[in-house]
Amino acid sequence: MNYEEFKERVRSGNDIVDVIGRYVDLKKSGANYKGLCPFHNEKTPSFFVMQDGQFYYCHGCHKGGDVFKFLCEYNHMDFPDAVRELAETAGIDVPDKFDYGDAGRIKAGLKNRLRDMYKTAAEFYYKELHSGSGKKALDYLKDRGLTKNTMVAFGLGYAPAGRTALYDHLKGKDFTEEELKESGLFSYKTGGPKDAFFDRVMFPIMNRASKVIAFGGRILGTGDPKYINSPETPIYSKKNNLYGIQRAIAARKERIILVEGYMDVISMHQAGYPETVASLGTALTKEQADIIAKLARKVYLIYDADGPGIQAMRRAIPILKKAGLFVNIVSMKPFKDPDEMIKSEGVDGVEGRIRNADNAIVFELECIASEYDRKDPSENAEFEMKAANMIVELRDRFQREEFIKTVSERFDINKELLTSEVNRIGDETYKEGIIRRKQNPVIRRPEGVGSRIRDGDQGLPDERNVLLALVKNPKIFEQVKGYVSVEDFTTVFLREVADILFDKLNNGGTIQAGEIMSRFDNEEQSDLGRLFSNEMYDASDDRTKSKFVSESLKSMVMRMYDEKSENAPPDEKLRLMKEKNALSDLTIDINPD
Ligand code: GTP
Ligand code: MN
Repeated sequence: MNYEEFKERVRSGNDIVDVIGRYVDLKKSGANYKGLCPFHNEKTPSFFVMQDGQFYYCHGCHKGGDVFKFLCEYNHMDFPDAVRELAETAGIDVPDKFDYGDAGRIKAGLKNRLRDMYKTAAEFYYKELHSGSGKKALDYLKDRGLTKNTMVAFGLGYAPAGRTALYDHLKGKDFTEEELKESGLFSYKTGGPKDAFFDRVMFPIMNRASKVIAFGGRILGTGDPKYINSPETPIYSKKNNLYGIQRAIAARKERIILVEGYMDVISMHQAGYPETVASLGTALTKEQADIIAKLARKVYLIYDADGPGIQAMRRAIPILKKAGLFVNIVSMKPFKDPDEMIKSEGVDGVEGRIRNADNAIVFELECIASEYDRKDPSENAEFEMKAANMIVELRDRFQREEFIKTVSERFDINKELLTSEVNRIGDETYKEGIIRRKQNPVIRRPEGVGSRIRDGDQGLPDERNVLLALVKNPKIFEQVKGYVSVEDFTTVFLREVADILFDKLNNGGTIQAGEIMSRFDNEEQSDLGRLFSNEMYDASDDRTKSKFVSESLKSMVMRMYDEKSENAPPDEKLRLMKEKNALSDLTIDINPD
C-alpha cells in the first residue's frame, strides 16, 4: 500500500464530527455541526464541521481543513503523528515501511516522487544518447532520418546495455527502495532489481503539462519485442494519455492528426505537423477521443495501410465521432506507414494527401462495399440503405447535401433516390428523437488549449463556483464536462483541484471535500474550506442551484471565448462570436433524470 492510500483509509475511518467533537462542544445545525472556534476567541459560534464533506471551516478566522489538519493545529502535532494517532483510533495497522521521519517526503506524496524519478530517468537516458555509449543508438536514429533538433524536441534517449545502469543512478539520487519498486522502471523477476529498459532507444511519454510520465523503448534494428512500454503506475494511465500531446497542444492547430506509432508522430512532427499524436500501443479509447475533441474539431487518421491498420481505424472512427469530432481518413497507399510516405513523397505529398482525405463515411462505405454483391438488386438496395443511414447521422443539412453528392457519384447511387431516402429516414429519426438520444454530450467550448494562467491562487468566482457545485452535486459532471476541462481553470492551484476532482468524476466516482483538502498544505486547505463551506449554496433549492451553476459555467466559457477572440483573425472572430452567443441557452440541471 502506498502512503496516499493509507492516508485515505485513515481519513475515511475517522468521522471528523467524532474527532473534533472530542475537543469542541458541537451542536447540530442543519446538515452540519457548529461550535465555538478553538482557534480564535469568540462568543457566538462560527466554527462549522461538515459531516458530508468531512472538513471544518471557521467563518470568523477563516481556518479550515481536513481531520488531519485539525489535529495538527489543535494539538500542535506533526502531520505524521496526527495520521498515526487517527490510525490507532480507527484500529488500522500502521505499516512500518513508511518513513515517518521525513515529513516533507511523505507530504509530497508518491506521485510527486515518481514524477521526479521519471524526470531524472529521462535526463539520464538523454545524456547517455549523446555520450559515447549511446553512439549506436544515435546512429540508428540518424539513419532513420531524424535530425538533432527532432531528437531534442522529443527528449529521445538511450538506455545503456548494463542491467543496473539506471538503478544505480537513481539509488545515488536518494530514491527509496519502495519508490523504485513502485516506478515500474525495474524488473524484480530474477533476483535483484534490473533495469526494465536496456540497450534501447528511449521515447519519453509526456502528459499535457510536458511532464515525463512513462517511456517506450525501441530495440535498435530488428528483434522481439520491438517495443517495451512502461506499465501503468500512479502517474501513468495509458487510456488517458496520447503520445505527442504536449507538442500538439503547443502547436495550437485546429485539427489533430492521429497516427499509430511513436516513430510516426516523430516523423510527422519533423515534416511540419506538430499536431500529430498517437495512442499508446493500445486501441484508441473514449478518453483519448475526448482529449482530442477538446483541442480540435477535425481529426485526420493516418494509420498503416495494412489489414490491422484498417481494422484499427474502423474501431476508432465511431469513438471519435461520439466525441463530436469530424473524422477524415488519409490514404497512404501504396506506402506502409507515414514514415515511409514522407520519405518518398516529401512534405508536399503529405499536404496533398491530407487535402484529399476521405470523410469517414466514404471510408466506411468503401470498406463494406466489397461485402455486397451490387449486381443483386436486394443486396444493392441494402447497401444503398446503409449509405443513406450513415448520411443521416450528419446533423448539418448542408453537410448532408454535400455527402449525398459525393456518395452518389463515388458509389454510383441515383442521387434523387438517395436524397429522398435520406430525407425520409431523417424525418423519422428526428420524430422519434433517436438522433437526440444518440447524440453525445455536445462539446461546446472554444477549440484549442485552455485559459491563461492568472497570478495568485484564488482564481475567479465563477470557476470556484463550478468546482463547488461539482463537489456538492457530482451528477452534473456529465453535463459540465463538455464545456470545461482542467486546463480551463485560471490558476495553478485551481487546476490541481480540478485535476483531482475530474479524475475521480471521470471514473464515475464522487469525492468529499475533505479528500481533496488532504492533498494540500495548510493555507490551501483553509482556502478550500472557504470554497466548500458555502451556506447559501447548501440552503438553496435545486432550481436555484441549477441556475447558480449554469450562470457560473456560462461566465467561465464566455471568458474563454473572449480570450480566444483577442488574437484571432476577423473571420475567426466572427465564428467565435456566434459560438459564444449560442451559449446563452446553456443550462445545467442539478438533478438530472
Ligand atoms: P517503427 O517500427 O520504428 O517505425 O515504429 P512505429 O512507432 O512506427 O511502430 P509500429 O507502427 O510498428 O507500431 C505502432 C505502435 O505499437 C508502437 O509505436 C508501439 O506503441 C506499439 N508496438 C509496436 N510493437 C510493439 C511491441 O513489440 N510491443 C509493444 N508492447 N508495443 C508495440
Ligand atoms: Mn513505423
